[in-house]
Amino acid sequence: MNELDALVDSARESFELALTPADLENTKARFLGKSGRLTELMKGMAALSIDEKKTLGAAINRAKQAIEAALNARRQALSDAELQAQLKAEALDVTLPGRQRGLGGLHPVSLTLERIELIFASMGFEVAQGPEIETDWFNFTALNTPEDHPARSMHDTFYVEGGTAAAPNLLRTHTSPMQIRHAVQHVKRHRAALDAGQGMPEIRVIAPGRTYRVDSDATHSPMFHQCEGLWIGENVSFKDLKVVFTDFCRSFFESADLVLRFRPSFFPFTEPSAEIDIQFQTGPLAGRWLEVAGSGQVHPNVVRNMGLDPEQFIGFAFGMGPDRLTMLRYGVNDLRLFFDGDIRFLSQFQ
Ligand code: PHE
Repeated sequence: MNELDALVDSARESFELALTPADLENTKARFLGKSGRLTELMKGMAALSIDEKKTLGAAINRAKQAIEAALNARRQALSDAELQAQLKAEALDVTLPGRQRGLGGLHPVSLTLERIELIFASMGFEVAQGPEIETDWFNFTALNTPEDHPARSMHDTFYVEGGTAAAPNLLRTHTSPMQIRHAVQHVKRHRAALDAGQGMPEIRVIAPGRTYRVDSDATHSPMFHQCEGLWIGENVSFKDLKVVFTDFCRSFFESADLVLRFRPSFFPFTEPSAEIDIQFQTGPLAGRWLEVAGSGQVHPNVVRNMGLDPEQFIGFAFGMGPDRLTMLRYGVNDLRLFFDGDIRFLSQFQ
């Protein structure tokens, strides 16, 4: 009897020591297998009397059941542990926040164009769009550009198919052709009143868009942006240009003490002409003169090409670089970053 109790205890202990199902099955053979301890005991019963067989047989059966119960309990425990380990290894943290779909946003130059449009709209300017493939007439000739002007050379201008050999089509090198395109439409709408000597509403427009030149380095890209401005009326002067552009720059850079300098320059389509430089009084760029636009009083020949009498109508035009304005506003030092499409750069503006 004692030996049977000891055997059951020993089986329990051995089962506990088995750490894998394979281990456990090997251990089981030592107690319940054909040459296991219980089988040996049963074989030994042959020599006993009937009564002894009965009692011992019953005791052996109980021991066998106890050992089988211990075995099954251990089997269950091992398979539970195995399941737990597997679950842990394949753990899925359902409390992690989901991966969000990026919302996207506007390109920094688009943000600048929106800002330019908003500020000029507040000063009564409309916004006009025009073609990027231009004719020689609108890009050069109508703008009083001489036949031999260097801007017309293949070095500066992308010529495309179409047009004539003498006047080929091209990718517009500036937004100035929009001066002519817009003014001609405006004048056409008011032709009758003009002919009746009743004048016309002033032309006040900006024309933002893409422009192209054969040029590529840290501050030049073959595709870049410009925004043209045009104000034509019967009594529009250089003073108005100064006021409008100063107001614009101070609003755009949110800097009331920003100083402007109109530096004499030359453009075929304006006379007199000026480069516009700005100077910040505070911040990292303080004290430096930074060129932001070309400008001037619209040349009489250009006013004539708009269909107007230069004796009656006068005004100013300017052309600025939104890419450069964006670089200055955000402190970007390489223009090419705007056109590389690198999301790490672009997402900083959202
Ligand atoms: N079109 C000129 C340029 O690209 C800028 C400009 C526009 C100058 C209007 C005067 C008037 O440099």
